[in-house]
Amino acid sequence: MKEKLIIFDTTLRDGEQSPGASMTRDEKLKLAKALEKMKVDVIEAGFPIASQGDFEAVKAVAEAVRESTVCALARTSFQDIDRAAEALKPAASARIHTFIATSRIHMEKKLRMTPDEVVNRAVNAVRRARQYTDNVEFSPEDAGRSELDFLCRIIEAVIAAGASTVNIPDTVGYALPHQFGETIRQLIERVPNSDQAVFSVHCHNDLGLAVANSLAAVLNGARQVECTINGLGERAGNAALEEIVMCVRTRQDIFPCDTTLNTTEIVNCSRLVSNITGFPVQPNKAIVGANAFAHEAGIHQDGVIKSRETYEIMLAQDVGWKTNRLVLGKHSGRNAFKTRLKEMGLEFGSEEDLNDGFKRFKDLADKKHEIYDEDLQALVADSSHDLEQDRIKFISMKVVSETGEMPVAAITLSIDGEEKQGGAHGDGPVDAVIKAIESLVDSRSRLLLYAVNSITGGTDSQGEVTVRLDMDGQVINGRGADTDIIVASAMAYINALNRAYSPKAGRAHPQV
Ligand code: KIV
Ligand code: ZN
Repeated sequence: MKEKLIIFDTTLRDGEQSPGASMTRDEKLKLAKALEKMKVDVIEAGFPIASQGDFEAVKAVAEAVRESTVCALARTSFQDIDRAAEALKPAASARIHTFIATSRIHMEKKLRMTPDEVVNRAVNAVRRARQYTDNVEFSPEDAGRSELDFLCRIIEAVIAAGASTVNIPDTVGYALPHQFGETIRQLIERVPNSDQAVFSVHCHNDLGLAVANSLAAVLNGARQVECTINGLGERAGNAALEEIVMCVRTRQDIFPCDTTLNTTEIVNCSRLVSNITGFPVQPNKAIVGANAFAHEAGIHQDGVIKSRETYEIMLAQDVGWKTNRLVLGKHSGRNAFKTRLKEMGLEFGSEEDLNDGFKRFKDLADKKHEIYDEDLQALVADSSHDLEQDRIKFISMKVVSETGEMPVAAITLSIDGEEKQGGAHGDGPVDAVIKAIESLVDSRSRLLLYAVNSITGGTDSQGEVTVRLDMDGQVINGRGADTDIIVASAMAYINALNRAYSPKAGRAHPQV
């Protein structure tokens, strides 16, 4: 029997810290259920002190998830820890994760604390958390740039205080694999009570080494990896869960441990994260990119037909790629719709949402005869936010674009329940429709990103539009999907505005 490698998913916490990736309570809940279905061991659901919205999201995840441990992040203040414990109350299995920085630069410049004060804070925080649960994790933030002797000292102290997991973060993505692996080996060897805790790693991808560093740590004794779906996370992101898991699974000749993850759910989770956040997955992304298992070169195709192992080291089905992706059509009934969604791990919150979703499915099937899994994912993602709470609602639009003429758009929106009409010219039809929306809203936002992605192949594919806006320093993503990309653009823009105007938009950042 191999040792177990614990998979700690932090998509809902560190992943969500990525600018523009913030999720609503319902979106978090949906993703948490998908992670539970994939048999993730620990789900870090959020940072409850950050905002009322995050507190409620963690609480909702703690209520709904039964099979995975639900974890909440807290700085070392008692207020943070008490709030995390409160949010985790309904959990079947709860973990409190507390952290404080240990690198010289963070202690001097950010915390303005002496090393002794930092050790005291860490020990007191772990003791406080232990009053609520036996399952306490401690992270010395910026461990990748901390002095080894000091790390040994603080780790020994927090284990003595009751921490059962010690997580070593490479917060700024500075480490190199051979060096990070050696750090983990030395910590386990030098900390006298290291056998009383699981050593974990949490690597950021600033130099593109998050997965390599995490795996080097596993080869040197780490038995928990913190990671995110699609590698989502602060700046360049975190280690990608799918890459970690499939490396360990595929190279069982090297690794002394294995995960118990249900890998066939990986693609579903990847699509769900992409749909919720509006961050597309690049086609050549390992494991979950559209081309990850596509063999274009003739010589490769010939080899794969003769014997799959000539060029394939994994089975596409093992990570959840389906060969037959054509699922439903115009004549499919409500039951077939519901069954297929269930097979994909997607569910509507209520019977009313399901009915609404089915109506939109029928509308879509009228426009585009073949409905693929990707279309269903987009459909469900569109209904994943609470429409009732949206201040701005799309009613209709008309755009005229003619050779030699400046495109012009007219749009009707409902704003705070009042129907309003606006219009504008633009450099192109998309520009015209965005200006028409702005003529009614005047958000003064700056468009940081506009991207269109076709959800499936073919000219009848739905276009999925992602926009990223900067509103007074707050970065917000919006997405919309439709067979008409101008409508999708308007939807995406309105979606971002609604998110910005949501009372849940503001939150504190754990590391600032
Ligand atoms: O990157 C980091 O250091 C973190 C900690 C809170 C674990 O996210
Ligand atoms: Zn992090």
